[in-house]
Parts: sequence; C-alpha cells; structure tokens
Amino acid sequence: MQTHLTFTSLSGIKTELLAVLAADTQTAKGAQAKPAPELLTADATVKAAAAQALASGEFKAAANETLLLHAPTGLAAKRLLIVGLGKPAAAAKQAQIKVNSVRDAAGAAVRFAKPRGIREIVFALPSSEDFSAAGVRAAVEGAFVGDFDPDTYRSDRKDQSIASFTVAAPADCDRAALEAAFAEGVILGESQNFARSLVNEPGNKMTPTVLGQRAAEMAKQVGLGCEVYSTEKLHELKMGAFWGVSQGSTEPPALIVMRYEPAGVKEGPILGLVGKGITFDTGGISIKPSDNMEKMKYDMAGGAAMIGAMRAIALLKPRVRVIGIVCAAENMPDGKAQKPGDVQTAMSGKTIEIINTDAEGRLVLADGLAYARQLGATHLIDAATLTGACVVALGMVNAGAFSNDDHAYAKFEAALAVSGEKFWRLPLGEDYAEMIKSEIADIKNTGGRWGGAITAAEFLHAFAEDTPWIHLDIAGVAWVEDSRPYIAKGPSGVGVRTIVEWVRSYPD
Ligand code: BES
Ligand code: MN
Ligand code: ZN
Repeated sequence: MQTHLTFTSLSGIKTELLAVLAADTQTAKGAQAKPAPELLTADATVKAAAAQALASGEFKAAANETLLLHAPTGLAAKRLLIVGLGKPAAAAKQAQIKVNSVRDAAGAAVRFAKPRGIREIVFALPSSEDFSAAGVRAAVEGAFVGDFDPDTYRSDRKDQSIASFTVAAPADCDRAALEAAFAEGVILGESQNFARSLVNEPGNKMTPTVLGQRAAEMAKQVGLGCEVYSTEKLHELKMGAFWGVSQGSTEPPALIVMRYEPAGVKEGPILGLVGKGITFDTGGISIKPSDNMEKMKYDMAGGAAMIGAMRAIALLKPRVRVIGIVCAAENMPDGKAQKPGDVQTAMSGKTIEIINTDAEGRLVLADGLAYARQLGATHLIDAATLTGACVVALGMVNAGAFSNDDHAYAKFEAALAVSGEKFWRLPLGEDYAEMIKSEIADIKNTGGRWGGAITAAEFLHAFAEDTPWIHLDIAGVAWVEDSRPYIAKGPSGVGVRTIVEWVRSYPD
C-alpha cells in the first residue's frame, strides 16, 4: 500500500473514493429523537454534496457505519464515503473525538473499498489543531490494519489490497508535525502487519527455524543485529526449561536474539523484550482436546509481536538500547517429550516440577527472561498467549497486564493512551506465588484452576525477580474471532504498537 499526505482542498482532489468522517451529535432521547450526523470537515463543497443524504435520516453516524454517494456534486472525487465515528465525548468538540475511533474509521473505509474493487482512497482528517498529529498517525495505522487479509493460501485469492491511501489534512495544520506523525503511522502499521503475517502462517510452514529466518531477514533489512541459535546453544546456556518443551519435537528450537544499539548510546537502560514463540502448541503429553486445536498455530503471537516491535524500533530510532528475544519451539507429544512429574533445571538454576506439559509458554519464557537479564537488560517486558484463564477473566476485549514495578507500568499505561490497544492490569502477590510452590522442586509450572493467569504471571516473576518487568498475556486478543468493520478475522498484531511506544518513553 502506497501512502501519501496532502494538504490540498478536498473538493479538487481527483480520486476513486473520498472518505469523510461524521459524528453523531444527537443529544435528545426517546422516540422523537432524530439522528444528527455532523460532517467533520470545514469544506463547504463536501458539506453541500452530503447535505441531502445526511438529512434523510438513513445514516446515524454510528461508529464505523458507512454511507456511499456516487458522483458527488461539485467534487472531483468519483465517490464520497461518509464514515461514522459514533458519539463524540461529552461536549461534542471536534478536538475530543477519540483518536481511536479515527483509527477504526480509516480501517472501515479501507475494508469498505476492498471488496468493491476500489483501490485508491483519500481519507479526510477533521480540522482541529491539537488532534491532527495523533489523528494522522492513527488514520495511517488504521488503514494498514484494515488492508490486511489472511487468505494467502486460497488458490482463488484475489488480491484486493489498496494500492494507494492518502490522508488529506487541513491546510492550516503544522505540516512538519503531521509529516512526522504520518511517517510514524506507516512504520507502526507496516510492523503490526508484519507481525500478523507471521502469526497467520500455519504450523507446518512457520516452524521455529522459519520464524528465526524471517526475523533475521527483517533484521538485515532494517539494520538490526540478529543471531538465531538452536539446540546446542540451549544446552550451552543450560536452558533446561526451554529445552524441556522443545525436546518432544523433531523441529529444532530457535533462540532468536535481536539487538538495537543506537550509535553513541553507551549507558542508560537496556530494555529486554521477550516473546513466547510456540509455533504450535498441542499441549504435549498433557495433550489438548482436538476442538479448536488448529488455533494453536497462533501460540507464537507474543514472539511475533516482539519481532514486529523490533522492526518499528529500528526504523523509529529511539535513544535507548533494546534486546529482543524470542523463544521458539514446537510443543509436541513424543517418545522423547517431557512428562508430568519431570523436574527441569532452568537457566537461572531454579528447579521446576512439570505438572502439566501444556503450561509450556512460561517454561520457554523463564529461560528467555533469564537470558535477557544475563545480556544486561535492566527492564523487561514479555508478551505471550499464555493462559486460557486470562481469556476467561477478560474475554476477547482486554489483554492482561502484570507488573512488579509501578514506574515501568505507568509508562506502559501512557503508551496505551497513544496506541489505543486495550490491556487491563491484574494483580500479583505472595499469596499467588504460594500456589506454585512444589514439594519436590523450587517451583511447579501450574497452580491449579483458580487465578490461572496470575499464577502463570507469578511463575514468570520468579525468573524476572526484582528487575522491573511487565508481562502481557495476549491469549484472548491475539486472534480476532469475528471480523469487524475495520479488521479481518485472524491475527490482530496486538502488542506491537504499545510495546514500541513504551520503548520510546525511555531512557527518561
Ligand atoms: N497456549 C496456551 C494458552 C492459550 C489458550 C492461548 C487459549 C490462546 C488461547 C497455553 O500454552 C496453555 O495451554 N495454557 C494452559 C495452562 C494450564 C495447563 C495451566 C491453559 O491455559 O489451559
Ligand atoms: Mn499450552
Ligand atoms: Zn501455549
């Protein structure tokens, strides 16, 4: 998708589709209340072209609702698409329109165009100073998110991707600021889609080795350091927890290490990004039921998020060192597989009693976190499709977040305000850590049914120890179960945008 930013006036723009936003400003309640869509543009010609359709009452400007007009009067555009933003916050001031709804609206415009054979869009940004930089970035991100479709292996696949997406910003904007925000949007949107493309691959195509190759290719393109290790290195580093998972598969593991080292930055924090890269999770000897097991190809979504984030970091160039580690393995049942009751010795020296071989993510991450610390990470963040319990707790709306450090978490929360992603903080605590004490070893890999997302987080905590650390459990949101107007069913790429924003909040 080619992207452009223009400041020319809307009515003169020649395009297949001009998309303009509308907010629902209706305040009256009850049966008499009429929809009151307000077009969010200062352009009088566009307003006039849409006036009759908007007055009809057919269109309510609900979030992501669309209305298409052909041959709009007075406009050079062939079509005018009005996209609803829903009700703006309290005072109905344009500045308060949530940036998040602009991101979704851009995605909705793209997904409206794709199946109709429209390959070119101009997306008009509402006029408002303090809104426009964040808005332009969100619009570009949303366009990339909307453009992604997962049907890559269909032999009748028609490539419906959008060839050209242009953001049209009001002429009175701070152009330099908008151009910078626009460039950021392109990097984040492309990086999120890169992560999604990795997650979308089936387990037979996306083995740990292939994931390592894809990370290395990407690293070469954007100038990141990258080493991909396998079995030998796991033994050398005494990664008994990671190897315990991998030993049941004929596919060798991949320990992917990506490094971002900005020139001249020799001190300050080193951020460690650690991702779960289980390319397929059968459950191992504690095998999963076959219903929905095919979904477990997305069990490397945390790892993919870190690879996507590293790509964006390399291009955005923050002044902080970052190490990205992905622990990739296949969790299989086999004559050589680990068994319930086995005891493994992790890299940190802690011994782990394996209660359930399906609780494998925390095992590979235990060694990933320890390795990040050994490489000098002063702050840690991990992402993993870790527990079904997190999905039970938060549904498929919010991902879970945990932290042993309020300062690091405050930065994460600030990053969420920019990314628009939904994470909800859950507690940690000694009482939960108690639940994973073992009779035979230092720790066991499951804590029973109750509070399963939290005991999993406490397991990781035992390996992050007192290093400031954030854990993201994305099991419920890494895969979109039902398509929405702005995103296809399939991998979501969740985490990339927030993790990148969190990284950019350092070194301060
Ligand atoms: N990969 C799964 C978690 C998962 C569940 C991801 C649903 C996406 C959707 C993880 O490895 C797992 O199997 N966890 C177990 C842990 C249990 C055995 C303690 C779970 O949640 O059931
Ligand atoms: Mn599992
Ligand atoms: Zn898993």
